[in-house]
Amino acid sequence: MAAATGVIVELQRNSPNWATIVEEIVKLERKIFPKHESLARSFDEELRKKNSGLLYYREQHMDGEEVAGYVMYSWPSSLYASITKLAVKDTCRKQGYGEALLTAAIQKCRTRNVQRITLHVDPSRTPAVNLYKKFGFKVDNLIQGYYSSDRNAYRMYLDFDAS
Ligand SMILES: CC(C)(COP(=O)(O)OP(=O)(O)OC[C@H]1O[C@@H](n2cnc3c(N)ncnc32)[C@H](O)[C@@H]1OP(=O)(O)O)[C@@H](O)C(=O)NCCC(=O)NCCS
Repeated sequence: MAAATGVIVELQRNSPNWATIVEEIVKLERKIFPKHESLARSFDEELRKKNSGLLYYREQHMDGEEVAGYVMYSWPSSLYASITKLAVKDTCRKQGYGEALLTAAIQKCRTRNVQRITLHVDPSRTPAVNLYKKFGFKVDNLIQGYYSSDRNAYRMYLDFDAS
């Protein structure tokens, strides 16, 4: 696996580039996910919720910068956190970005002292399922019709030892 270049940045609510970044992510979201799986229409709203965060991978080019991938997470309670979205631009895949983003999101969730991280993923998304398994996530359950009538989801979880 080639080492990824660029930096992971946390999108800050009061950041002056908030709108530009959200717009870029919404565009990617539309390209990557089918409508029923996409947060494109509600991204801004999701992000303004308390207890949620977004990290993105900023890739520097000669002529500017681009968002190469992003991960969204939330911690609805003190018991667990969730990875609510993870995606890497198709031209940037297989270079370690997904792994780097997931590592950073897990670190963020861990600062909330939760014992468990959960997520949902379509079982047919093999790259994502493999990536989560590589990090130790286990399949908890198959939820029929989670995304749409004919698309199911694995619920996966990663537990941390109490310390
Ligand atoms: C899943 C996704 C984020 C992975 O991003 P990526 O930057 O290409 O992943 P990485 O290069 O960091 O790969 C890390 C691991 O993921 C798995 N993986 C990635 N691409 C894979 C592929 N094409 N086939 C099988 N496994 C794959 C492997 O376990 C890999 O580890 P390895 O390199 O040691 O084999 C990316 O494929 C994607 O955006 N997919 C579409 C959106 C999606 O399905 N999101 C998850 C649901 S919310």
